[in-house]
Amino acid sequence: MTIPIRPRRSALYMPGSNARALEKAKSLDVDCLLLDLEDAVAPDAKDLARTQIGDAVAAGGYGEREIVIRINGLDTPWGETDLQMAVKSTADAILVPKVNAPSDLQRVAHMLSLHNAPSKLQLWAMMETPEAMLNAAAIGACGKDPEIRLSCFVMGTNDLAKETRARLTPGRAAMMPWLMTCVAAARAGGIDILDGVYNAFQDEEGFASECAQGADMGMDGKTLIHPKQLAPCHAAFSPSVDDVAWARKINDAFDLPENANKGAIQVDGKMVERLHADMGKRVIMIADAIAARA
Ligand code: COA
Ligand code: MG
Repeated sequence: MTIPIRPRRSALYMPGSNARALEKAKSLDVDCLLLDLEDAVAPDAKDLARTQIGDAVAAGGYGEREIVIRINGLDTPWGETDLQMAVKSTADAILVPKVNAPSDLQRVAHMLSLHNAPSKLQLWAMMETPEAMLNAAAIGACGKDPEIRLSCFVMGTNDLAKETRARLTPGRAAMMPWLMTCVAAARAGGIDILDGVYNAFQDEEGFASECAQGADMGMDGKTLIHPKQLAPCHAAFSPSVDDVAWARKINDAFDLPENANKGAIQVDGKMVERLHADMGKRVIMIADAIAARA
């Protein structure tokens, strides 16, 4: 599906069982909230978490923040009840955990239509299993199927490390082929993709370097576990003043009458093509959307 440009620089997880976090979210500068019913919630707390998330979303107060509810898998005792709660809520998306193949998303999409889900409700997919890495292209292609409503991939690097036994080391060398495969799959499907979490939330230097790496890789943003990760994450994933100025400059250059029929021109000693101007247009749109939000 074609998604309107929406900044998704930061997506903060919070356990649905943590009422204080759900309240605190209303005052945080964050693009997306990932209200969790799955891994961050113990089995005994699943019912409480579901009720708290349902009540918090109904009460509102989250402003422009995109609200995403991570449900338990449909093969667990909680998944279907979670889905019913999410469908009745005003959330923007359901995050489906441990997607292995397109059939997992088709199954959720089918349930959404059975429960008459509002048409604006999207699906996001956790990419966190070995099967998902091998099926990434097919899962990403669900982004082209309006019945499935897929609009975003979320890398689940902790589960991926567990299931593959690959280690999460500084620089993430072992993860890199999967991360980049998923970036390509997301782009081919026309959807967004968010990088995995950085567990050591007190390690500011390590976090900043992983944010920069994710931005270089083409990730749209990063999933976060703690509010202190928000500001450095936004710094890494927002277009810089220089990026925006350059984007405007090359677009202005191509708009000049003498360049109307040219495919490549020189600006400040660099070759730029129309594809660079198109990339620049996206930078400008993201920067404008961020500015409109502030
Ligand atoms: N969302 C919203 N608020 C959060 C938060 C989160 N993910 N993590 C911490 N906070 C709040 C705390 O409530 C606290 O607020 P307060 O000072 O107003 O009381 C403040 O930020 C500072 O928290 P701190 O004491 O540093 O951390 P903690 O020990 O309370 O919590 C974690 C640490 C890791 C348990 C917590 O950050 C967390 O649960 N993160 C999300 C985990 C998760 O969802 N994982 C699943 C996906 S990987
Ligand atoms: Mg997981």
